Amino acid sequence: MTVHIGAKSGEIAETVLLPGDPYRAKWAAETFLDDAVCVNEVRGMLGFTGTWKGNRVTIHGTGMGMPSLSIYVNELIQDYGAKTLIRIGSCGAMQENINVRDVIIAMATTSTTSMNDPIFRGANFAPCADWSLLKTAVAAAEKRDTPVHVGNIFSSDVFYSESPELDAQLERHNVLGVEMEAAELYTLAARHNARALAVLTVSDHLKTHEALPSDQRERSFADMVEIALEAAFN
Ligand code: HPA
Repeated sequence: MTVHIGAKSGEIAETVLLPGDPYRAKWAAETFLDDAVCVNEVRGMLGFTGTWKGNRVTIHGTGMGMPSLSIYVNELIQDYGAKTLIRIGSCGAMQENINVRDVIIAMATTSTTSMNDPIFRGANFAPCADWSLLKTAVAAAEKRDTPVHVGNIFSSDVFYSESPELDAQLERHNVLGVEMEAAELYTLAARHNARALAVLTVSDHLKTHEALPSDQRERSFADMVEIALEAAFN
């Protein structure tokens, strides 16, 4: 048990999928895993461990934003020995050639967060994906004919942006989409010698203002879970 995770030692797998929403963790565990058992419900943040094609996997919620993800990922890596961590979440698209429902795989992340300033002291650390996971996730997405885009994303500290100039500069510099967690996941994985990746479904478009209707969110989320599981075990 840790401060925020009630699982006993050994109840968390080395491979962990990380949706923001705890109810997505429940749905994904019930849909994709065999013999899934709930291993955490502290503060309503649900985690489940089961198997996928015989491989042990935990699916654990992170909450929204980097401070929340940071708590769970620190404990998952440092206290439970997680080694491969894949965020599965949604993002807003920032480029015209990307459509709602497409998948974005974050090769690198940009952020304005000050969370790690005391460590880097002004240096621009570039949080990036684990290459072996990135390669297998892209191959899995292509095999399924899921439209996939690979590149830089923006991990924002705010959902409701008041900075149109920043958004415009990020778009201009070919940032593909915006979400709120991946930069901290990649930073922690680098710090603690783990592998990390973020596989994201485009749920809304910042330029066209199109949004994924709620009845289609589940199918898109399922695509992403399967890509993440194939990436983890190939
Ligand atoms: N902004 C931040 N996070 C998001 C968005 C967004 O537009 N869409 C999905 N996650």
